[in-house]
Parts: sequence; C-alpha cells; structure tokens
Amino acid sequence: TRPVYFDCDTGIDDALALVYLMASPEISLAGIGTVSGNIDAAQAAVNTLDLLAMGGRDDVAVAVGAMNPLARPFTGGVPHIHGRNGVGNVELPHTEKQPENESAADMLVRLAHEHEGELVVIAIGPLTNLALALQQDPSIAGKVHEVVIMGGAALVPGNLSAVGEANIWNDPEAAQIVMQAPWQVVLVPLDVTLENYFEEDDRLALAASDSELNRALADILDLYFDFYVAEYGRKLCALHDPLAAAIAVGQITATRAPNVPVVVDDTQGPGRGQTICDLRGQRTGPKDVEGAHVRVVLDTDQPLGPVLLARLLDYQP
Ligand code: BDR
Ligand code: CA
Repeated sequence: TRPVYFDCDTGIDDALALVYLMASPEISLAGIGTVSGNIDAAQAAVNTLDLLAMGGRDDVAVAVGAMNPLARPFTGGVPHIHGRNGVGNVELPHTEKQPENESAADMLVRLAHEHEGELVVIAIGPLTNLALALQQDPSIAGKVHEVVIMGGAALVPGNLSAVGEANIWNDPEAAQIVMQAPWQVVLVPLDVTLENYFEEDDRLALAASDSELNRALADILDLYFDFYVAEYGRKLCALHDPLAAAIAVGQITATRAPNVPVVVDDTQGPGRGQTICDLRGQRTGPKDVEGAHVRVVLDTDQPLGPVLLARLLDYQP
C-alpha cells in the first residue's frame, strides 16, 4: 500500500474524498494537512478529525496548515456552497482528538523524507501548504513519488472567475510554485471533474446505509446539491475532489493526460488564477512535451459516481 499525504480544505466534496480514501486498501493515510479554502484551516481540521473519528480512524494524524494564502489574507470561504462550518451546516459528532503540534508543511516535509520515493501527495484545496513545504525544503520535489492535484481549468471556463478554478484562484502564487517544482504532478481540472457526479439517487443510497458515516455524508451533500442546480438544472453535484483521490488510488485511469508545460497566472489582471496549459499539437492524440512534468487529465476511463458509491457503501468502519 502506498503512503499518502492528503492536503484538504474540508469541505463537502473533500469529505467524500476523505471517506473514499479511508475506505481504500490500496493506500494508507500517512498524514493529513488542512488549508484555508472552502473554510479556514482550523475548521477544516475539526471537520477532518470528526469524520476520521466517525470512521474509526482517529489513528490518522491531522496537522493544521496555512491560515492565509501566500500573498494576501484569507477572505472567509464559501458558506453558500459548503455551509458555514464547511460540512453543509450539519453538526457532526465532535471528537476530543486534537490536531498535531506540527504544521501541515512540516508534516509534508517529514513524510517526504520518511517515505522517500514512495509518498503520494493528494492535494484538493489551495496549494499553500505544498508551496510552503517546497520553500522550506526544495529537495522534497525529488523525494515525492507523485502529486495529484484537483485544480485548474484547461480548456473549459473557471468556477471562481471566468478562467480561475477555486483551488488555484485562492492562492495562485502557491500554485505557480507547485507547478514549476521539478516533481511529477497529475492535474485533475474542471474539464474532467465536472463530468463526474453524484445524483439524488446516490445520495439517497447513502442516506439508507446502515453506516452512520454514510448517512452523515448524505446529510452534508444536501446543501451542495442545491448549489449545483444552477449549473446542471437538477439536483446533483460534481465530484471534484473524489476524482483526484480515485485517480491517485488507481480505481479511475486517466486515458488522455499529456505531460505539458503549465503556467499559473499570478498577476493581478483578469487572468489571475488561470492554469495556462500548453496543449498545442495534441489533436492527433496525447503527446508528452519533453521536460514537462504536469500531466493534465482530459479524459478518464469510466464514470466515477458508481465506483465511489460502491466503495462508500462497502466500507465497514
Ligand atoms: C474545488 O474547490 C472547492 O470548493 C472544492 O472542494 C474543490 O476542491 C473545485 O473547484
Ligand atoms: Ca477541496
């Protein structure tokens, strides 16, 4: 089983990704760091610890990460999408367990050394902690096996601005550092995440589960479904973060994912937060560009919805 450092801003789809990873025997959760995005990093840690405890996994260490993006203060999250508490305004049973004393960036640096060549980083929030870890110890780029990121928009519009996807737009300076570092990144952008969803039937299946954790996920999803009515015209939600997790685990395979140069716009202009992916010359099939090390996922082998639901329903905490 591959050791995973998981970086999240829990968050409704983050919660789904977390429980999916808890239920995945292919990987082991070596540590979790939180970051401000959907909610601030401290509340994200509370949500993460509560979900871990509900799943019987309070052995997993959680470190609070960056409260603010690199270049400006955190502006307070998105309560209309993820709820005031990040988990759809649902009150989860609270655990006594506290976060670690180390920061998320320290945890990542430590795990990269402890599991040299093995560690998979899965990042599904703003990339602040990853950038801080690289600044602290650039050698980790050569020690991490691969970095799977939910973020960006390659050939489709953004979701927080015309061109900016939320995780990148919330800290473009950090994202630029992470994309330029010499490690292998797998970027899972809106192009594919918006094509994978849970429908109301999936939510009802979770609600009918005999696991308290699945029933909590069903409750949490309700608010998220409301938000997506505007995008899709019916009650469902996109599976952004779970798709990155499932690609990292290997249950979903990226079928079109060339390694290409990716630059993040960290200027103050209208392009701020854009992931500029150089996809020229790809018309006749995916071609890796020499020296490039960001694989941009543009297609996957199968829909995630049924795979995710089956794994959640099978999970016996
Ligand atoms: C991303 O932004 C967050 O709101 C979600 O949790 C996901 O990581 C989608 O743009
Ligand atoms: Ca997220």
